[in-house]
Amino acid sequence: MNFAGSSILSVDQFSLDAIDTIFQVADLLEPVARRRKVTRVLEGAVLGNLFFEASTRTRLSFASAFERLGGSVSDTTGFTFSSISKGESLYDTSRVISGYVDTIVIRHPEEGSVREFSEATNIPVINAGDGIGEHPTQALLDLYTINGEFKRLSKSINGSSILVFGDLKNGRTVHSLVKILALYQNIRFVFVSPMGLSLPESLLEHIASRGHHYEVHNSLGPHIKNIDVVYATRIQRERMLDGELTEGYSENFRINAALVNSLFDKNTVILHPLPRDSREGAFDLSDDLNADERLAIFRQTDNGVQIRMALFALVLGVENQIESSLRDSNWFRPQYIGKQDAKFTKLK
Ligand code: NCD
Repeated sequence: MNFAGSSILSVDQFSLDAIDTIFQVADLLEPVARRRKVTRVLEGAVLGNLFFEASTRTRLSFASAFERLGGSVSDTTGFTFSSISKGESLYDTSRVISGYVDTIVIRHPEEGSVREFSEATNIPVINAGDGIGEHPTQALLDLYTINGEFKRLSKSINGSSILVFGDLKNGRTVHSLVKILALYQNIRFVFVSPMGLSLPESLLEHIASRGHHYEVHNSLGPHIKNIDVVYATRIQRERMLDGELTEGYSENFRINAALVNSLFDKNTVILHPLPRDSREGAFDLSDDLNADERLAIFRQTDNGVQIRMALFALVLGVENQIESSLRDSNWFRPQYIGKQDAKFTKLK
């Protein structure tokens, strides 16, 4: 894959070789993401960070990634303060903003909208989530995290068992992750969702056509065995009509310490794209696992920075300048970012 000048719209664009290139650049940039090193390879460049749907980590991690490469960020959030609310087309918005910035990151509620946006411009456009379509950069950081955890556990992605859990119908992170994992070999996918929120049939067919195995369930329990990775997701209520759902969506859908200890072993990796829904009555990944080293969700969010840096470096063609540009940072940073992180360092 020729990265320079390319837009990143779907995981369908990636081969295993392209993924390897992205991960190598991400490894190189890890010390910058962890604030031990500084680089200015994108000095003078400007990112347009456009979010027309709710976001915390994706928007901020893209901005942090671009700024830590030496660039600066212009952003807009929501439709209210954008000219799209005055009836402007995606084509016009895209062409206009391209006159101001060097790369555009965009999240938009309609599937296919980011591709349409990219068709009006020659500058790289990165899909940060298009409705229930795709979220390719999340899939890359999820895969990068699985890779890192598996290296430590001496496991391989080929032949592994991945439990994908939650809202598999509307979860775009799931759609992208399943396709990117399907590039590997002989994976056993175990899909668990409430009734009515199953993975789209086309994705099941895609998996089967690549020789993987899959199981479909509507509950968690002892019938789920030998899992290497749990990928839990939030029920996407904002994509449903009021009162829609939730046949069979009950306490049984809470992934808490008791359930993890009864179903999974000590080397199972637990991931979630976040946000997890911690409100009462929402059955998601529980807080009582926060000190459990199997829970890799914050290692996962941290990894988002070097993955997004790597993509910027590649699409703007500066990846070969990184190594010689690195110098030490000189400001205060804590030894461990999170309060629970100290106990995880032995995992490295
Ligand atoms: C996800 C998204 O927006 O698709 N969040 C994220 O980007 N990490 C998942 C979600 O909203 O549930």
